[in-house]
Amino acid sequence: MILVTGCAGFIGSHLTERLLANGHEVIGVDDFNDYYDPAIKRENISQALKDERFTLIEADIRDKKEMKKIFEEYNVEKIVHLAARAGVRASFEQAELYFDVNVLGTLNLLALAKAHNVEQFVFTSSSSVYGLNKPPFSEEQAIANIISPYAASKRSAELLCQVYACNYAIPTTCLRLFTVYGPRGRPDMAVYKFTDKIAKGLAIERYGKGNMQRDFTYVDDIVEGIMLALERPLDFEIINLGNSRPVQLNKLIELIEQNLGKKAKIIEKPVPKGDVPITYADISKAKRLLGWEPKVSIEEGIKQFIEWYKKNRQDQK
Ligand SMILES: NC(=O)c1ccc[n+]([C@@H]2O[C@H](COP(=O)([O-])OP(=O)(O)OC[C@H]3O[C@@H](n4cnc5c(N)ncnc54)[C@H](O)[C@@H]3O)[C@@H](O)[C@H]2O)c1
Repeated sequence: MILVTGCAGFIGSHLTERLLANGHEVIGVDDFNDYYDPAIKRENISQALKDERFTLIEADIRDKKEMKKIFEEYNVEKIVHLAARAGVRASFEQAELYFDVNVLGTLNLLALAKAHNVEQFVFTSSSSVYGLNKPPFSEEQAIANIISPYAASKRSAELLCQVYACNYAIPTTCLRLFTVYGPRGRPDMAVYKFTDKIAKGLAIERYGKGNMQRDFTYVDDIVEGIMLALERPLDFEIINLGNSRPVQLNKLIELIEQNLGKKAKIIEKPVPKGDVPITYADISKAKRLLGWEPKVSIEEGIKQFIEWYKKNRQDQK
């Protein structure tokens, strides 16, 4: 059985469906917190809930008693740990909460993995750990330029993964994900926010004249990377999963405008603290160790996202 934490989130719900489609039994844990509307998370997971091989447990990964019960009751063979507080900007206001969930929550899962002889641990880290490093970002680079509490919490969790992997021989892969987008995309992220506002004729806030660049990566490619990581247990590795083709925010806005057939109204704002100027993944390690390569271009991905948005969101809220 595979345990997926954060199963009702954006990436977690896609991964859960993919695991079920591939014949796995899945236990999903999510606390349905209100970082964004929990109703969206209920909707995300509704498809998976129709499958009898899926068990949903509403619990907080920090709750030692509840989490222990899960491991006692079910035969957890592998863990994909996605549950986290995931916003860079919110992490400045709630740094303690971010460390509590992202670091101590991860530690709790690692301790359970050890106690119950779990076969493999896959952790989703973030490109934000590269901070102000020189692009393209490679796993070989020193991590010494972190600029947000969120990124610091993800790096701390990676280090704990390494400690457990090397002391207790739990094969562990930390995947550094680069700006993931696609259907069910998080409403606090640029792709969703811009699309929603432009569709509704509302102004969007553009930071730093829209020159910052992000290595936007389509959710299906990310799910494929996680699946490959699960198929190929490694002693301990950190691996980038990114599109390796950074796109300027202005280009993103243009693509959204084209697909919606609407022009954006723009309010200029300074770049918020914690936002890095560019993310850009060197993906040679993912190719070498996982045989992974992204397949969806930004043009195709935004088209798919906006088709989903029109069908599922446009007439709501
Ligand atoms: N989306 C991205 O661009 C991106 C980029 C890099 C890394 N990541 C990482 O990937 C993972 C998934 O991100 P996402 O975009 O799907 O975010 P998300 O917020 O949609 O999903 C996270 C899920 O975890 C759950 N969760 C949070 N705290 C919990 C707790 N204490 N106990 C149980 N469940 C809890 C939330 O309710 C949510 O459903 C996160 O670890 C995130 O840091 C995401």
